[in-house]
Amino acid sequence: MNRRRCAVLTEAASLGLKAPDLQPGELGLWLCKSQDPEELTGSLSESELTRMQLLAPGAGRRNFATGHLLMAHAVQSQGPGLWVSQRCHRCGRQGHGQPTVVSSGRRAGWWVSLSRSSSICAVALASAPVGVDVELVDRVSAADIAHVLTDREWGAASHPALCPGDLAARLWCVKEALGKAKGCGLEGAERLDMLDVVDEASRRPESWVHWRGWSLMIFDGRDSHIGALAVRGGPLHVRVLRLS
Ligand SMILES: CC(C)(COP(=O)(O)OP(=O)(O)OC[C@H]1O[C@@H](n2cnc3c(N)ncnc32)[C@H](O)[C@@H]1OP(=O)(O)O)[C@@H](O)C(=O)NCCC(=O)NCCS
Ligand SMILES: [Zn+2]
Repeated sequence: MNRRRCAVLTEAASLGLKAPDLQPGELGLWLCKSQDPEELTGSLSESELTRMQLLAPGAGRRNFATGHLLMAHAVQSQGPGLWVSQRCHRCGRQGHGQPTVVSSGRRAGWWVSLSRSSSICAVALASAPVGVDVELVDRVSAADIAHVLTDREWGAASHPALCPGDLAARLWCVKEALGKAKGCGLEGAERLDMLDVVDEASRRPESWVHWRGWSLMIFDGRDSHIGALAVRGGPLHVRVLRLS
């Protein structure tokens, strides 16, 4: 076993991360509080280490190190030889952007997504294109996210008397999860009116709702966080692997 693979195993074990063998009809959702990066850096690739060191010490480094360990561990748990490779759809460079699960340099039959907020990291892994996002509810206001809202969404989210205060966070999470599953990020999100589907998902938390060939879900991220999942096609059984 190579050095990095071994470090992923050791560091994941030190955090008590679970390694389920997911079935094709299942989606794994790992949620973990950010940990001290000094304990975790053996599992990072050189480019990940370089990126982490560009971040200011503190929460940013903690959630970067934890998130990338979580992602490597989730992928590695599904079979020998599986790794994550990242490529940016904007600049075409490797080492950042959408993560892809690869084996011997080729795309494998798994899809993975990562989100890191100030204190929580989330990773989703599935046998279909998948996206996850977690956000601290109070940190998202309608004004902050106006650039990804349609006029109708803006009208609802900016009107606190007419809607729950966390509508902005819900819209943002769902749009980000969908954008990650598609690989385009938030590009074009301002043209997608998702108010009705977000409303439906909010009324039925932790259940799938269907929208234009996608299954979407809003979940409670705990510690004042909210989260969303998007997966292409039919709903998958979600296995939540939560660590305090
Ligand atoms: C990336 C984005 C979808 C979500 O970012 P965010 O809410 O700030 O952060 P999150 O922690 O929830 O998600 C970040 C993770 O999403 C993943 N990601 C980045 N781009 C992605 C894409 N196009 N598709 C799917 N996943 C992507 C990465 O794993 C990233 O983590 P990492 O930076 O540690 O590797 C959104 O902010 C975006 O579209 N940004 C544009 C960035 C960009 O185009 N940069 C160009 C650089 S040349
Ligand atoms: Zn780039």
